[in-house]
Amino acid sequence: MADLRAKYEEAGQSHVFTFWDELSESQKSDFEKQLRAIDPVRLNATVKQALEADEAAREARDVKIEPPPASSFVSTVGKEGETEKYRQMGLRAIVNGEVGVLLMAGGQGTRLGSSAPKGCFNIQLPSGKSLFQLQAERIHQLQVLGTRTSGEEKVVVPWYIMTSGPTHEPTETFFREHNFFGLDPSNVVFFEQGTLPCISNDGKILLDDKGKIATAPDGNGGLYAALRSPTSPGQPSVLDDLQKRGIKYLHAYGVDNCLVKVGDPAFIGVCLEKEVAAGVKVVKKTDPAESVGVVACKDGKFSVVEYSEIPQHLSEARDENGELMMRAANIANHFYTTDFLLNKVPTFAEKMAYHIARKKIPSVDLTTGQRVKPETPNGIKLELFIFDVFPFCSELTIYEVERKEEFSPLKNASGTASDNPETSRRDLLAQHRRWLEKARAIVAPDADVELSPKVTYGGEGLADVQGLSFTKTENIESL
Ligand code: UTP
Repeated sequence: MADLRAKYEEAGQSHVFTFWDELSESQKSDFEKQLRAIDPVRLNATVKQALEADEAAREARDVKIEPPPASSFVSTVGKEGETEKYRQMGLRAIVNGEVGVLLMAGGQGTRLGSSAPKGCFNIQLPSGKSLFQLQAERIHQLQVLGTRTSGEEKVVVPWYIMTSGPTHEPTETFFREHNFFGLDPSNVVFFEQGTLPCISNDGKILLDDKGKIATAPDGNGGLYAALRSPTSPGQPSVLDDLQKRGIKYLHAYGVDNCLVKVGDPAFIGVCLEKEVAAGVKVVKKTDPAESVGVVACKDGKFSVVEYSEIPQHLSEARDENGELMMRAANIANHFYTTDFLLNKVPTFAEKMAYHIARKKIPSVDLTTGQRVKPETPNGIKLELFIFDVFPFCSELTIYEVERKEEFSPLKNASGTASDNPETSRRDLLAQHRRWLEKARAIVAPDADVELSPKVTYGGEGLADVQGLSFTKTENIESL
């Protein structure tokens, strides 16, 4: 123990041992394991870097924020022929077994307030399907489309699911209980993002208990480090698995968008055509006051710029078509090559500064030994964001898609003003109505018709509904 104590002392963090003598032998052993997994000197440096970056961001007055260069921008909104060209390109990569999908499901969904992971949430569709099930079935259908195109080999799109301490076990259990929604479990790989200690406002590690450090998931940008760690003790990392399977391209996305086109061939195709290592899908921001992060350039580097960072005149500026200049709203949909994740990210990973979230963190009072739930923020959590790699990308393809077809996030609890279970349900069913009507079916005004992803991935293959009438609310599992 002497070496461990010395390490924490050197870092000015020896208070973590305050209650050591009160712990049982097994508590001591667990605590020691946790303490050994942390490098307190390095942690101090990470906190310092994060605080300095936070300070610099708040004080920066002369940061140059501009729209991204037109050359990085691709929009196929309203251009079906072009979308189809890209879709075919992406589908070829899928058929070649070169595409995988990567789900970020480590968030705690505090705003939604559900105790289960967000992906388990039922948005009250006629089918009662959870978000995880919708995504699994879209992957299934992508595999079917790929297999049909290939004409011979069975096409596999592996699914890598990033969880966190709080979501790992319940997510795996949910998948097991639902037989992986028909997917082959060997093609579904769970891996856990890291955690970092929570720090007090004066830079000290907070104790969650007398023998336990308070920790929090390291943000969805924890993905980059997590991809390199064993998926479980003794197992290969996700990056090892990608190489073993020959996966060259990845679509990464957030769990809470019921319209997400998992493994979207068109997005893959656009990024292949542009020959980029990284891409981001965006939707059009139309209201300058909408509080959404937009993809832009900050001091000449790609970045996601928060609403509050953009000067009002720039927020409101419009181009010759009357569109907002700063309109590339970020929807947590990314493209990467495996090569980028494997070889490029390590060259700058150390330079990505953590963001600071000031939170109310329950912790043990060092003088009384009582666990206290604070009324005001008493400390910070450190987080990386998935888009923190953008400033290090010399090229980035920004692919604009139509919001009503691709983005309806589930952020807030039922009954709130926006981005809640009701809007998710509404937007998905409205999309399916559009698909049916485009295929010349007749849908009664009060019929909410849901189309299983096993019927159609993105509105294709609906010729058989022509002339059919749908008069009641129902889920269509097959045609
Ligand atoms: P959000 O930032 O919206 O967080 O996550 P959240 O946990 O879903 O909701 P709140 O803020 O607590 O209410 C965007 C995406 O990033 C993932 C989430 O699961 C979601 O898919 N995420 C977030 C992680 O994978 N890990 C994290 O540490 C945080």
